[in-house]
Amino acid sequence: MTDFKLLCAQIRSLTEGEPHWLPVMSNASALIMDAMADLNWAGFYLADCSGEEKSLMLGPFQGKVACVRIAYGKGVCGTAAAKDESQLVPNVHEFAGHIACDSTSNSEVVIPLHAKGEVVGVLDIDSPLLNRFSAEDFAGLESLVATIEDVADLSGLPLGR
Ligand code: SME
Repeated sequence: MTDFKLLCAQIRSLTEGEPHWLPVMSNASALIMDAMADLNWAGFYLADCSGEEKSLMLGPFQGKVACVRIAYGKGVCGTAAAKDESQLVPNVHEFAGHIACDSTSNSEVVIPLHAKGEVVGVLDIDSPLLNRFSAEDFAGLESLVATIEDVADLSGLPLGR
């Protein structure tokens, strides 16, 4: 079981020197990838308002090369962003519209990240195992995102505004 209290404390201490969202998200991706077993991807997609339609653009991550842009409402990430609802997907092959960036992914968690009440991105975690994420993992990852919302400087997000 991942020690999410420790992970949150590590994120807090990392932001003390530099709260800018870019290094915070970069180090958060590295911490998550290191601390949680059986992951193949951990990272962020950032809300981008510069186009006609809002979309998510690839942000800091650990793992294989991933799709660079996801429309709001598409895939697990776009669904989480459009509905402003965390997604726990035990089997991605049963999620209509799932976007397979890495064909080895079998389960996924996506959690929206907010600034001033608005969705400014999502945390996306993938595993090659089916049903990898427990309710405790889901709650722990939500607390981690809440920590980032609390301590990171998210001004400048969403992109393109
Ligand atoms: N599976 C995601 C796309 C992002 S990759 O997993 C890194 C989705 O369906 O939105």
